[in-house]
Amino acid sequence: MLRRLHAEQPASFAFTAANLAWAEGQITKYPAGREASAVIPLLWRAQEQEGWLTKPAIELVADMLGMAYIRVLEVASFYFMFQLQPTGSVAHIQICGTTSCMICGAEDLVAICRDKINDKPHVLSADGKFTWEEVECLGSCTNAPMAQIGKDYYEDLTVARFSEILDELAAGQVPVPGPQNGRYGSEPKSGLTSLTEYESGKTQYNASAQLATDIGDTVKRIDGTEVPLLTPWVGKDGTVASRAGEQPPAPKPTPKPAVHQSKPAKAAEALKAEAPKVVPSKDLPGQSELAEKKGEWKYEAPTAEAAAPVAAGKDDLKLLKGVGPKLEEKLNEAGVTSFAQVAAWGPEDIERMDDLLSFKGRIERDGWVEQAKQLAAGEETEFAKRAKKDGIYDDE
Ligand code: FES
Repeated sequence: MLRRLHAEQPASFAFTAANLAWAEGQITKYPAGREASAVIPLLWRAQEQEGWLTKPAIELVADMLGMAYIRVLEVASFYFMFQLQPTGSVAHIQICGTTSCMICGAEDLVAICRDKINDKPHVLSADGKFTWEEVECLGSCTNAPMAQIGKDYYEDLTVARFSEILDELAAGQVPVPGPQNGRYGSEPKSGLTSLTEYESGKTQYNASAQLATDIGDTVKRIDGTEVPLLTPWVGKDGTVASRAGEQPPAPKPTPKPAVHQSKPAKAAEALKAEAPKVVPSKDLPGQSELAEKKGEWKYEAPTAEAAAPVAAGKDDLKLLKGVGPKLEEKLNEAGVTSFAQVAAWGPEDIERMDDLLSFKGRIERDGWVEQAKQLAAGEETEFAKRAKKDGIYDDE
């Protein structure tokens, strides 16, 4: 199956205020300069909010993380858990088609989907309420056959019960997830034969079905208000423990709006657009409602090092893996003469240098910034050690 952007795309995407606060919180889990590590959680939250991943959502996530659009699209199109086409307004049904489920009747469940939803997977039902697909093992093999509906598992399914569940969902009800044949969890159908002391004190449903029932988010589009926003790694004073003692962060990308619009929509908006305002960096997760409401994104001024056109000292840039004499000459001509300058490059500086010197992505590919940070701090990279010892440099 080809995984590509859907032909029809909405004009824009914006996280709800609570989802944006959640997304900002996720980003601060990672060290400065490694914000891209939050790409999967952010894409997932965008999908939970919209039901599928749209182009504007992918571009907004890229903007928030300072990543190239293509890098985020690569992630979105690689993982099958990301839906790149519209899903049913009520639910997307995922039928496990792997061994246990297959021998216990998964094909019959697929037949129900073909009959009640659409003959083809990933295509909306006539009323737009459902889509379906067959997926690999979902790890609930002892309760085969099973299907994931929205966020939860419906297990021990029969054709009749699965068909009923679809009817109930279409009628606006949300059947209780979990085993559908009377089992509590994955114990024998006849009941526990050992560990029977655990029979008492149980919740009405097993832990996951109980949680799903308590939160009530099985087929809900997530807006971020379902559970409280928890960011225990952010201290009361707004500092993030994992970032304490780090070097100053590289400059953030140019401030981007927290609503991503497609190009035609952008052109119309540009006529009335105001320059985004700078939001202080202390505006941390959970405290940034003001910025969210205004549709702004956090921006920090470039560090002095990044802004300096030429550093005081001149370093041997050939100690950077990927830089040979010719590239060093080009870099010097462009005013780059020290490790500190390269170490301070942010995504925008990298893009500009890439364009200016036709490096075709090699700055990121070869990890110049990471290498330069080490060298600027007086440490040595493996490559630098070798280059000094053997006098061998990259010759490009
Ligand atoms: S085989 Fe279906 S959940 Fe594992």
